[in-house]
Amino acid sequence: MKLTIIGTGYVGLVTGTCFAEAGHEVICVDNDAEKVKLLQAGGMPIYEPGLEELVEKNVKAGRLHFSNSTREGVERSDVIFIAVPTPAQPDGSVDLSFIEGVSREIAGAMTGYRIIVDKSTVPVNTGRKVAETIQRYCKAKVDFDVVSNPEFLREGFAVGDFMKPDRVVVGVASPRPIQAMKDVFAPYNAPIIVTDIHSAELIKHAANSFLALKISYINAISVLCELSGANVQEVANGMGMDARIGRKFLDASLGFGGSCFPKDLSAFIQISEQLGYSFGLLKEVQQINARQMDRFFKKISDTLWVLKGKTLGVLGLAFKQNTDDVRMSPAIDLCHRLQKEGAALRVHDPQAMEKARAVLKDVTYVADMNAVAEGCDALIIATEWPEFKQLDLEKARKNLTHPILFDGRNLFDVNEMERLGFLYKSIGRGKP
Ligand code: UGA
Repeated sequence: MKLTIIGTGYVGLVTGTCFAEAGHEVICVDNDAEKVKLLQAGGMPIYEPGLEELVEKNVKAGRLHFSNSTREGVERSDVIFIAVPTPAQPDGSVDLSFIEGVSREIAGAMTGYRIIVDKSTVPVNTGRKVAETIQRYCKAKVDFDVVSNPEFLREGFAVGDFMKPDRVVVGVASPRPIQAMKDVFAPYNAPIIVTDIHSAELIKHAANSFLALKISYINAISVLCELSGANVQEVANGMGMDARIGRKFLDASLGFGGSCFPKDLSAFIQISEQLGYSFGLLKEVQQINARQMDRFFKKISDTLWVLKGKTLGVLGLAFKQNTDDVRMSPAIDLCHRLQKEGAALRVHDPQAMEKARAVLKDVTYVADMNAVAEGCDALIIATEWPEFKQLDLEKARKNLTHPILFDGRNLFDVNEMERLGFLYKSIGRGKP
């Protein structure tokens, strides 16, 4: 099929590339001319495992093109996906101006029937607004259908998630676009849920908020574990073996971050408020998350007492493993707090150092994770990169002025760390 994706962020670029990989003919459109040039020249604007190779392969095969013309994309495709940002406004509500702008551009370029699919995360009722906008701005007065198709891929695992989705949600207002949408997703052999547009839009916010709730729940349990002497990993394992609960997203941490959960939670709380329901449960999810960072910071400052003049090593800057994304990263937040107290920082991340430089200044960026601890008063793990588990602990112990390690991701075994001579403080793994 001929498909256009408008927006080449994480979602748009992965979607376009994976559609091309499945055999579709794809144009990825972005209004950022520099980004389009970079992609046309074979460069990558983001780090996402496996993506670069797929882009290269599909460009070579002639199935994947980049353009900064929405008109070209609309003229040459049957189905147009909108994957532009929906950022948060200061009050937590969603800024829909990119969605509105793109809807108008699409309307202005339409000369025949098109299916316009919203992939961006949007408040319930956006599909209706998109349809109204297209109707208003389409001079040719042609037929069209608006579809909601929320995306569930995770950064860092985006290609795998897209190629093997648990489900594909397709929200429609009429039966006409259903078959085309089934054809688009046929190569992925995933269950397709066809529903109304409102439900499809709600599924996305409800799912992300539930996952955030799951993390806050285990983080709250981690506090109880610290107070009682239990081990949160044992508790999560025991809970997770109940198939109704599941073990995934039960890893206690210094809190969740990223460009999705914090934004989507705030948006969902706002949307609920506007619909007349005060979603107190989700407000508590936010508060638990904020307190989790406070608690971790307090662990560091209680142990080291005065931070001014101390040098601390921080491993991990990305908001999670396998990505170079530092948006709303708990690790960056922690670094800023430590700097505010006067600590000097030596930091490392396997992929995110370049992007971190824009938001984290006056620190020493260290290329080798095993060299971070040199001359530090303590080491802190802030991101769950699997390679940190391979840290040379003997070397770190010798490099540190005092062998103190704060682990915001529970990467090491408590007893083993004590055996190695560390003062080791992690999350929710108190000693009776
Ligand atoms: C999330 C959802 O998982 C995706 O399904 C969704 O498509 C995406 O948002 C989106 O709306 O675009 P993502 O933000 O890429 O994906 O990252 P996650 O893997 O969900 O992690 C979010 C945060 O939670 C990270 O900071 C991570 O470290 C933290 N986390 C995750 C925990 O603290 N504990 C866990 O057990 C799992």
